[in-house]
Amino acid sequence: MNVDEIKTITVIGGGTMGNGIVHHFAQLGYSVNLVETKKEFLDRAMATIDKNMGRQVKKEKITEDQKKAAIANINPGLDLNVAKDSQLVVEAIFENLEVKLDVFKKLDKICPADTILASNTSSMPITQLAGVTNRADKVIGMHFMNPVPMMKLIEVIRGIATSDATFNLIKELSEKIKKVPVEVNDFPGFVANRILMPMINEAVFALMEGVATEEGIDTVMKLGMAHPMGPLTLADFIGLDVCLAILEVLHDGLGDPKYRPCPLLKKMVQAGYLGRKSGRGFYKYE
Ligand code: NAI
Repeated sequence: MNVDEIKTITVIGGGTMGNGIVHHFAQLGYSVNLVETKKEFLDRAMATIDKNMGRQVKKEKITEDQKKAAIANINPGLDLNVAKDSQLVVEAIFENLEVKLDVFKKLDKICPADTILASNTSSMPITQLAGVTNRADKVIGMHFMNPVPMMKLIEVIRGIATSDATFNLIKELSEKIKKVPVEVNDFPGFVANRILMPMINEAVFALMEGVATEEGIDTVMKLGMAHPMGPLTLADFIGLDVCLAILEVLHDGLGDPKYRPCPLLKKMVQAGYLGRKSGRGFYKYE
């Protein structure tokens, strides 16, 4: 397959990342299937895409007609079987290994032999996802950053069996969709989260120990280190459940106690304080 043959893409999961991935591909003219588990989640994803594209119209980045055309490129549904007509599937469901393995097993049965199966996972082993399929050479990580339409980076992660052909195709596709791919090997947390999550975790420890307030910690990192947002604001943005899941993968996968998730982070996730998406994390949201 060459990059121009990729025309239909199925995105599994329409949460924070899934709706951004759908938004980006649809805007570039790809035909995109969006698969969710419940109608209310589909509606929520489509409403978010509509709102975010509406913002682009207001800023005169796109026209109302371009927005309409992009929305018309999206086919929302609840049936995974739509993936059978796509050249690429991007999985963006919960950061839970069992659920992802189940979806990869199903996709392997549904999709033609040459369909590439990509995961947007932040930290789950690509090699293990590939291992439950009969096409390990065509399984790859496509780790987009949040918010997808704005962030340039894609970590392109090679599982142990990912072929050069698959890697090169996804690298080319990433460039075609105006992103910057970086080749990364399959180790826990890859590069982005291996470095980012210990920083966020340390910020939560600092908060728990009363070193400074939320605002204090974020201001130090913003003004002192020129980070565009502080680590606690960023954690709320990513989702505290996602942060915790990634830290657990780093802790289990690398076996070093320096990756142990902060008890305060665990407590907040237990309380359902998941950040922006639940209206409350380290900060409160409308
Ligand atoms: P989220 O919790 O916002 O969304 C997950 C969505 O997947 C939910 O809407 C859920 O209904 C849906 N879902 C769950 N099981 C499904 C299934 N079997 N079939 C179809 N849909 C299903 O999660 P988020 O943040 O979008 O994360 C998704 C993936 O992207 C995770 O692997 C995460 O690690 C990764 N990621 C997250 C980033 C972030 O900033 N939140 C950044 C980069 C990657």
